[in-house]
Amino acid sequence: MDRRAFIESCSAAATCLSAAAALPVFAADARPRAYARAVLTDEFGDPLKASSLKARANYVFHYPYVATPVFLLNLDTPVPPAQLTTEARESYVWPGGVGARRNVVAFSAICAHQLVYPTPQVSFISFRRNRAQKGVQDNLIHCCAEHSQYDPAKGAQVLDGPAPQPLCAVLLEHDPRADTLTAYATLGGELFDAFFRKYEMKLSLDVGPTARHPVAGRAPVRELEKFCKNPIQC
Ligand code: FES
Repeated sequence: MDRRAFIESCSAAATCLSAAAALPVFAADARPRAYARAVLTDEFGDPLKASSLKARANYVFHYPYVATPVFLLNLDTPVPPAQLTTEARESYVWPGGVGARRNVVAFSAICAHQLVYPTPQVSFISFRRNRAQKGVQDNLIHCCAEHSQYDPAKGAQVLDGPAPQPLCAVLLEHDPRADTLTAYATLGGELFDAFFRKYEMKLSLDVGPTARHPVAGRAPVRELEKFCKNPIQC
């Protein structure tokens, strides 16, 4: 999607939201940040079909950097745009789901509270089909560290817990003919600088010198259970 198409999409989304929910229309002052384009692939390197994603399963890929994880979700229902605000009080219109059914969404998997994230060894944060032990409802992204909960059907808006802002969205472009997905930007409150500061030593051991290299070309997607040995439920 080019810049003009994106702005038109955001304008349409703001209009729909305003009409449907009588929300005040804010100027969208958090803009998308473009990164290198990366086609999402399966584990064999072949382009992933959006329609092949299992409903409400956790998938992980890394974007926009080699060490920054992202949740990819098929929410199994069309997902409308949402008006959101970052911790810095910047408003933005998240454009909603993509794919033939507009049911596919992607968010940075770095918790906006204290930057907990999924690693190959363990994950304290994931999407839950069913209400977690300390959850408020089904179908939320739940962080077990201090129980922040994000609604992926509303742009990862915070519904509970100490997180001060939504998870940063990763914007995807869907090719309707090939049914493929391409990551091309982020939108919302990025936490990548803080993430790389906080985990500098760990990332240098786990990932090595490429941790902050940009992802470009292809981004392999795996189910969380295959990516991570110990996805914690709480
Ligand atoms: S790090 Fe996720 S809730 Fe504290």
